[in-house]
Amino acid sequence: MSLILGIESSCDETAAALVTSDRHILAQRVAGQESAHRPFGGVVPEIAARAHVEILPALIADVLAEARIALAGVDAIAATAGPGLIGGVMVGLMTGKGLALAANKPLIAVNHLEGHALSPMLTDPNLAFPYLLLLVSGGHCQLLFVEGVGRYRRLATTIDDAAGEAFDKSAKLLGLGFPGGPAVEKAAKDGDSEAVPLPRPLTGTAEPHFSFAGLKSAVLRAHDSGHYSVPDIAASFQRAVVDCLLDRTKRALTHAAGATALVVAGGVAANQAVRGALQALADAHDLPFVAPPLWLCTDNAAMIAWAGALRYEAGMVDGLDAAARARWPL
Ligand code: KG4
Ligand code: ZN
Repeated sequence: MSLILGIESSCDETAAALVTSDRHILAQRVAGQESAHRPFGGVVPEIAARAHVEILPALIADVLAEARIALAGVDAIAATAGPGLIGGVMVGLMTGKGLALAANKPLIAVNHLEGHALSPMLTDPNLAFPYLLLLVSGGHCQLLFVEGVGRYRRLATTIDDAAGEAFDKSAKLLGLGFPGGPAVEKAAKDGDSEAVPLPRPLTGTAEPHFSFAGLKSAVLRAHDSGHYSVPDIAASFQRAVVDCLLDRTKRALTHAAGATALVVAGGVAANQAVRGALQALADAHDLPFVAPPLWLCTDNAAMIAWAGALRYEAGMVDGLDAAARARWPL
């Protein structure tokens, strides 16, 4: 059994966590920065990086104190090394390197996407490789065949916006504020998902790729027309996104022979309509459906510590020369 300190700072969440390789979360903290970015309607990279600098050391001290563990008591330090906003990634990775150097512990440079991809295993001990994963976040929209730690086959990706980005941009167009995903989901509760005719880009095509840019433009046109209420547009938009995700996932299932489960992860996996539709798809294919609890869907450090624990157990550690990367495909 190993104990890993995880650090996450790739976007606008600053987070630290202590997680064991046998799935115990000893302590974790996530500090959001919504109020700092809200006036700008989106994440401002420079503000995010400075906030990480200010908050991260205290969060790390907090989790160690809560678990009553000294830095010397951890086996390794796992920090997100990308992909993400490079200033923020550098803050977390350099903090991790400093701690690793000071405490003479191995560093594990974790790919943020791998953190999301392995996160469902942290809370579901029955989930086994291989599984089909729909990874839907603010920066990414991918279908991955997850074969093992460090072994990912990408079946699909977005050709323009990510699903969460579509939620965020549509929310902004509709005046629903930031962050957009939860705001759209809330507004959609009072709307009619059949009210506004919206496109389902790329559905029905053979290649299981995603596209959301056209959908966002259609939301803008519907709003500008003045014919529809905001809740109706929100509900119709959410339905269209769910239909796209479902169609593409259904297609990918034909390329995922041997998958033991259908799994969803990433911030958009917090959406109840998305979860419900995927659950029904999994049921229809006689596959277990696994979705992490909501707190594990959006960015956090427990998933980074967990990915670090699996890598550490597999002997996959990194040197202090590990690079911070803005782009880093799995
Ligand atoms: O995984 P995450 O926290 O950060 C990235 O790695 O990108 O995902 C954030 C994204 C944002 O675009 C946010 O609007 C979206 O996840 N999101 C949601 C919901 N909660 C968060 N989208 C739809 N419905 C939600 N309830
Ligand atoms: Zn993320």
